[in-house]
Amino acid sequence: MTNFPNIFIFDHPLIKHKVSILRDKNTGMKEFRELIEEITTIMTYESMRDVELEPVEVETPLEKTVQYRVPEESVAIVPILRAGLGMVNGVHRVFPTARVGHIGMYRNEKTLQPCEYYCKLPEGIEDKTVFVVDPMLATGGSAADAITAIKKRGVKKIKMMSIIAAPEGIAKLAKEHPDVPVYVSTLDRELNANGYILPGLGDAGDRLFGTK
Ligand code: PRP
Ligand code: URA
Repeated sequence: MTNFPNIFIFDHPLIKHKVSILRDKNTGMKEFRELIEEITTIMTYESMRDVELEPVEVETPLEKTVQYRVPEESVAIVPILRAGLGMVNGVHRVFPTARVGHIGMYRNEKTLQPCEYYCKLPEGIEDKTVFVVDPMLATGGSAADAITAIKKRGVKKIKMMSIIAAPEGIAKLAKEHPDVPVYVSTLDRELNANGYILPGLGDAGDRLFGTK
């Protein structure tokens, strides 16, 4: 669906169904939060098709067998504050022991430029597959800067996950981080003059936390 090899747009009917409820301005905070979590869980399954497994010996009631498991402690989650917090539980449902780092970014409302105000990443993150999560990829500035900060910590395997993206955000990540696979549930039409995604879902942070 795009010409960029590192961008994966899901075309999953169940995700479409859930995103349509998410967009509805009459959907309340509780349902909004639950939907973000559910969509994230589905996306996590889909984005882990290339995960490296390790062999383990298992003894069934009948015999010993070699099976395959995701190595312990191999995944970390880094939400971009605030709205990315809403996706953490969705990844935790699949990887309950994943450690969590936090990157705080806000967009200057006039220039739309991202500004980093907080960064705390878990020890040993450089050896893990890191899911950077933020429901909205608008200009792509916040995600691009967050990924740069995580790469500076020596992380090699990064996956970016967003629920709704604008073409501008996708093009920015494809250009600045072509090595990072970007998983997006829905590609929207455009950004408006204020940097909001159209048709979008409004301000994800405000809808998740009830701040407006
Ligand atoms: C929103 C959203 C992303 C960013 C996307 O956060 O959660 O982080 O905007 O925009 P961009 O792609 O143009 O950078 P916001 O700055 O509103 O902060 P919040 O999560 O605290 O509400
Ligand atoms: N951030 C949001 O929360 N929504 C948008 O549409 C764009 C950026």
